[in-house]
Amino acid sequence: MSTTAERIDDLRLRHREAVTDKEAKAKQRQGAKGKKTARERIEQFVDKGSFVEFDAYVRHRTTAFGMEGNRPYGDAVVTGIGTVHGRRVAVYAQDFTTFGGSLGEVAGEKIIKIQDYAMKVGVPIVGMLDSGGARIQEGVVALGKYGEIFKRNTAASGVIPQISIVMGPAAGGAVYSPALTDFVIMVDKSSHMFVTGPDVIKTVTGEEVGFEELGGGRTHNTVSGVSHYLAADEDDALDYVRALLAYLPDNNQSEVPAYDHAAERVVNDSDRRLNTIIPDSPNQPYDVLGIIETLMDDREFLEVQPLYAPNIVIGFGRLEGRTIGVIANQPKQMAGTLNIEAGEKAARFVRFCDSFSIPILTVVDVPGYLPGTDQEWSGVIRRGAKLLYAYAEATVPMVTVITRKAYGGAYIVMGSKQLGADINVAWPSAEIAVMGGQGAVNILYRNEIRDAEAAGHDVAEVRKRLASEYTYNVASPFLAAERGELDGIIEPAETRVMITRAFRALRTKRVQRPEKKHGNIPL
Ligand code: COA
Repeated sequence: MSTTAERIDDLRLRHREAVTDKEAKAKQRQGAKGKKTARERIEQFVDKGSFVEFDAYVRHRTTAFGMEGNRPYGDAVVTGIGTVHGRRVAVYAQDFTTFGGSLGEVAGEKIIKIQDYAMKVGVPIVGMLDSGGARIQEGVVALGKYGEIFKRNTAASGVIPQISIVMGPAAGGAVYSPALTDFVIMVDKSSHMFVTGPDVIKTVTGEEVGFEELGGGRTHNTVSGVSHYLAADEDDALDYVRALLAYLPDNNQSEVPAYDHAAERVVNDSDRRLNTIIPDSPNQPYDVLGIIETLMDDREFLEVQPLYAPNIVIGFGRLEGRTIGVIANQPKQMAGTLNIEAGEKAARFVRFCDSFSIPILTVVDVPGYLPGTDQEWSGVIRRGAKLLYAYAEATVPMVTVITRKAYGGAYIVMGSKQLGADINVAWPSAEIAVMGGQGAVNILYRNEIRDAEAAGHDVAEVRKRLASEYTYNVASPFLAAERGELDGIIEPAETRVMITRAFRALRTKRVQRPEKKHGNIPL
């Protein structure tokens, strides 16, 4: 029988082997590649000294391929809990230096345990991925663990925020856990995600493509929309997620975080600048971020997915210290038209906000849907319907401000009253109609234009006059206000004060829905 002191010594020895020595080796291997170790990433991410590790002593049970001779403590993932800005968060980080961060039975069990913990206590979970995928030596057992992780990702969806930071490879089945989470952050140049890699693609289809082009951070942020933020490096990725978490509630039962911030009661100089932000020419673009930043506390706005479908802007800000989700058309990009990508990007964001009781501000300046066979054949009907569905199903407080154009179906989808927005206002510069002046004139005044042409008049001039009359008479926001489609027309400078009041008034909004298993959102 050993004494207590001997047992404590034994613990210290094992701890050194499991954590200290393993970490020293990991540092050497990752450091050589300019990367951080799993523990370093976690330590940097959570508040200093707050990390409590789970399962540092687990070891795999595999005997295939002589694996019984190599059973490192902790296996290929570090898991535990910590705090970020003093609030609890569950974390896991795959350790590429152990079996390439691959997911075998026990690494899977560790992740599953931390997922279950996060769900049980209702805190966000952040995963840092750096892995060669399913552990080849463990075969179907490894694949099964992925299945268990996906099942938990799905069960946790809409219950706790789930964030994935991809910091190395994520290949094959490994991509689908991040895909099921709410936000995917990738590190430029050093992270890659793909279902089948370049070698397999070449063998099967003959197509030649490199890692970076196929599944690098830039590709997934600009082309596929898989990722929500392209971090310049690992530090940037960790900082972004810390900033993001500050906007999110712990779970779907808790309130959004509230920071001390004086109520906005008076119009200030920065607000007054909004009175001149809309150009006199309806076709001249401007940057909607200028409007959003003016409206938010301390001009702070955390944009999500800025590089994908930039014709729509989504992100988080605060009013009176409380989180608000913002969706806005961006006239600076494709004139702010809606297309499939923009619709899907905004729809997922609306659903995220709704799941976590984050009120939604919609800023509208949309000339319509992007026309073309490419859009129609790619399913703009089916895929564009997602945004309608998302708004229509949302029950959080919603305020909509129409700054300029709101035409046709795009008017309806962008947080219209009929879809469930609570307070809808417009600036005097708003134009609301079935279509824009030029298009409407071609249909409504076909005969007049033909007669003018026959009489030798300047047709362009006639069109311009008719279009401007149409815009004034038919698209005037006062017509919408007369019908109660808008609750008010406000001076741009008053917007910040007005929306602050509106969201304050809506804080107790409650909506009852008929019971159903779940809806059938067009996918
Ligand atoms: N299972 C078991 N071990 C794995 C593994 C896996 N899926 N992926 C990587 N490893 C191991 C490697 O054998 C190597 O071990 P060693 O250090 O003992 O030699 C170590 O992890 C590092 O891998 P390596 O290939 O040297 O790293 P790399 O940076 O050159 O390449 C990958 C990384 C991910 C591109 C490459 O390892 C790979 O293609 N892995 C398989 C990906 C895959 O298809 N997985 C199945 C998906 S479900």
